[in-house]
Amino acid sequence: MNKVKSIKNICCIGAGYVGGPTMAVIAQKCPHINVHVVDLNEQRIADWNDADLDKLPIYEPGLAEVVAEARGRNLKFSTDVEKAIDEAELIFISVNTPTKTYGVGKGMAADLKFIELCARQIAKVAKDDKIIVEKSTLPVRTAEALRTILHSTGNGVKFEILSSPEFLAEGTAIQDLHNPDRFLIGGAPTESGEAAVQALVDVYLNWVPRENIVTTRVWSSELSKLTANAFLAQRVSSINAISALCEKTGADVDEIAHAIGKDSRIGAKFLKSSVGFGGSCFQKDILNLVYLCRHFNLPEVADYWEQVIKMNDYQKHRFSKNIIDTLFNTVSGKKIAFLGWAFKKDTNDTRESAAIYVADELLQDRAEIHVYDPKVSEEQIYADLEYLQTNRRPQTVIASETKQSVEYSTLSMEEIRSLVTVHKDPYTAMESAHAIAVLTEWDEFKTYDWGKVYNEMLKPAFVFDGRNIVDKDQLDVIGFEIYNIGKGN
Ligand code: NAD
Ligand code: UGA
Repeated sequence: MNKVKSIKNICCIGAGYVGGPTMAVIAQKCPHINVHVVDLNEQRIADWNDADLDKLPIYEPGLAEVVAEARGRNLKFSTDVEKAIDEAELIFISVNTPTKTYGVGKGMAADLKFIELCARQIAKVAKDDKIIVEKSTLPVRTAEALRTILHSTGNGVKFEILSSPEFLAEGTAIQDLHNPDRFLIGGAPTESGEAAVQALVDVYLNWVPRENIVTTRVWSSELSKLTANAFLAQRVSSINAISALCEKTGADVDEIAHAIGKDSRIGAKFLKSSVGFGGSCFQKDILNLVYLCRHFNLPEVADYWEQVIKMNDYQKHRFSKNIIDTLFNTVSGKKIAFLGWAFKKDTNDTRESAAIYVADELLQDRAEIHVYDPKVSEEQIYADLEYLQTNRRPQTVIASETKQSVEYSTLSMEEIRSLVTVHKDPYTAMESAHAIAVLTEWDEFKTYDWGKVYNEMLKPAFVFDGRNIVDKDQLDVIGFEIYNIGKGN
């Protein structure tokens, strides 16, 4: 495989939050390339193929338009994994790589069983040479393991393995894919490795300027992805750490973020204090980084990055504890309205959302939680809470804060359903609530008629704003008592 291959058929294994939007944009920008996205999940594929674009399995601004343009032309979704592998010259692996929940590395390491399965399937099906691209986020040196599996059949088929991690953020996926800060490609420093890199560069060049396509060795590319997420999460934990100090001192965390963000060496982005970062990747990727550091006997480096997670646990706990403390040390039987459940605005994704953890802590005290989120389904909310009952990570920070170990009881599905109500209307969620907690920064929350909420909804007295999006001065005047993250009195 020494010549630069011109790619005509792409396969992507995994039609999730990365595979779906990324391949839709490749198909949109490269009408001369057939893009076949496959998944084992039949429902997900059926949803990608639904004529009603509102039913796509992922909500992302702009995604429906891109799918409408390319689907049926050169973009196809199916469950026929073997056919897609067979036909493609280039295969993206975009399957999930969650934190392991069993065995060696439980709770820390990335679970690579889905990746391994893909490699075995490719090895079994492939009849001609192929370029395999790691799109999933993987521990450094995974390409080595892939190479071993792929070449284990001894049938003479050659595979060139590239790493091209994805940096899109949910809620802005299409914008990020259309105008990426950079696309990254890692390849082997061999003639065939360089040819494979060039083949993928040529795909991206259809819409991305060459200077925005960075090429490195494979290991650097793999580790760049974990590093980028660790740095981004670290900024959120850093500003959240300062938010705790602001609340004690009367300083305003948003003013601080603005002031320090003006320093071009620091930069203004990713300095928004919050109830804690969520999403499927920050925590998972840092835990994976910590695991790798411990594996390579670098305990100081591991402890350094682990602190980013501990600070995030602390922030979520601080928020729930403030609600309980303020409501006279118990929320038992009290109605708490949750505005937002998604881990950030403009997505229906709830993975690791801070709302789940805040709810869980309030439910331990038997609060009655009433949730409104514009994009998250009722079943998803119950599923998130049910999953957590048997999958809690040990949160050492909670024990150190209260100087005692915290015994969580496991709630049954019946208990969860009796304590949690999901609303389609925000005003019914807030009606007669003892407190309102803002968990996601949906724009529509800024537009609510707070006078009506206060005067006609039986005066919910307290607003706990975990996103600093409602106007404190306006709400104070109406009569609410408002607690903002990082704003002292
Ligand atoms: P996801 O869970 O939304 O999608 C993964 C899909 O892969 C699922 O639909 C699953 O059914 C499918 N799958 C698993 N094994 C399969 C197999 N053997 N054959 C066919 N299909 C299979 O996950 P995601 O959010 O798209 O993340 C995928 C990877 O991308 C992860 O490594 C993640 O860390 C990384 N990533 C995610 C984001 C993000 O915003 N979500 C951003 C950058 C990178
Ligand atoms: C993040 C990265 O931004 C992407 O580059 C990366 O590709 C992706 O992870 C991934 O690997 O999965 P994502 O998790 O989708 O993207 O969304 P972010 O915008 O990074 O937000 C993550 C969390 O941090 C959210 O809960 C958000 O509310 C929170 N956050 C973000 C803050 O609390 N403050 C900020 O200033 C920024």
